[in-house]
Amino acid sequence: MTTARPAPDAVDPEAVESELQRVGRELAAAFPSSSRQPLRAFDARAMELATGDQELRAALFRFVDVVPACRSLDDLAHHLTGFLGEVGETPPPLAAAMRISHTRAGRAALGAAAAGGVRHLAHRFIVGESPQSALPTFRRLWNGGVASSVDLLGEATVTQSEADRYAARCNDAIAVLSRATAGWPTRPRLEADGSGPVPRANVCAKVSALTPLLAPEAPRRGQDDAARRMRPLLRAAHEAGAHLHIDMESLDSREAVLDLVLELLSEDEFAAGPSSGLVLQAYLRDSPDQTERIVAWARQRSAAAPPLTVRLVKGAYWDHELVQARQHGWEVPVFEDKADCDRNFEALSRRLLDAGSSLRVAIGSHNLRSVAHAIAYNRVSGGEDVDLELQVLRGLGDDLAHALAARGFRVRAYCPVGDLVAGMAYLVRRLLENTSNESFLSAQAQGASVQELLAAP
Ligand code: 2OP
Repeated sequence: MTTARPAPDAVDPEAVESELQRVGRELAAAFPSSSRQPLRAFDARAMELATGDQELRAALFRFVDVVPACRSLDDLAHHLTGFLGEVGETPPPLAAAMRISHTRAGRAALGAAAAGGVRHLAHRFIVGESPQSALPTFRRLWNGGVASSVDLLGEATVTQSEADRYAARCNDAIAVLSRATAGWPTRPRLEADGSGPVPRANVCAKVSALTPLLAPEAPRRGQDDAARRMRPLLRAAHEAGAHLHIDMESLDSREAVLDLVLELLSEDEFAAGPSSGLVLQAYLRDSPDQTERIVAWARQRSAAAPPLTVRLVKGAYWDHELVQARQHGWEVPVFEDKADCDRNFEALSRRLLDAGSSLRVAIGSHNLRSVAHAIAYNRVSGGEDVDLELQVLRGLGDDLAHALAARGFRVRAYCPVGDLVAGMAYLVRRLLENTSNESFLSAQAQGASVQELLAAP
């Protein structure tokens, strides 16, 4: 166990920087040779459409709000046309499609076209409609040295029966995965760290899908409603030896979700498990305070439980937070400058790693510098590689996952499972973040040198 680390200020920043550069170059060299174009995963037209067009980005963002109310792909395509119709200058093919969309037949044609495009895009990211149908993918990843985390698609539930169905899907995922993964070959690097066994079956859920009642101004009702669906899931995960991870979503639910997760995990019933985790979003200006709160909670937790896993991410709701704050005249809660956000990501990585064995640290990033920084800091401060997990999104971080696995790191791919309607908001977030001018992956795709990619923010 790596409990003893030097005091944080005894770690030499220059030693970290030089190790970072070394690790970063090694990883870059281990990328598959075809990977000069990490964004080939994106449909070229969708990319062209969304890049740099602020109005279109805003329309897409508002479109996500109506997705939960859509019942079919046609319904969805109909709304999409409506939103895009508000965009000043729609590019020609779309404009042509929209001219016919006022007729029933036109709408059906457009619906089919949009559905086709969306399906094409979705298959890059969504590994299957159900955990069962995605098993061959998880097995293939595992054989190649990459663990997985199943993300049950769905969010912003509007009815109680939808929330019940989502909980049933989570329960099913825990059962299907723990049964199937039991027969997988041994991969020591992926299934144990200094704190003990790391479950093979790993399921992620979103609280906004577990209750329709989550409201920022009156969190208690939503928390209680979500809690009655989460307790059985925690029980099921514990019995099956699976890991249950709760994702963070937009800022308006952040406090309610964090309070809820820490409260539930503090209940006597869960004092000895299951293995569980939550997410920290580094783009939030107040994320250092959240980190302190989580670290303090983890420190006082009973040693009978597996350490809480904290997945550090940049955050996927940047456009949402920005638009929301501007609409209401609020102070913007996210870093607007990429360098500030990247520096905060590095500071939080160090803070989490310094917390030692009371936490399990998972770095969720496609940014080569951020990943290399966590690896380097962990090493220089006396940690073992096996005590650090690196996570990527399926469809975007595949080449990085490959490089990390090839260099012997513990890597996990976040794999969404579900149908297209449930996955729409997820797809739009991937589109928005990866077509932003600030995207690390676009810089890489545009041929930035390793030196540039590894430069300090
Ligand atoms: C999302 O759903 C990856 O959890 C993140 O966008």
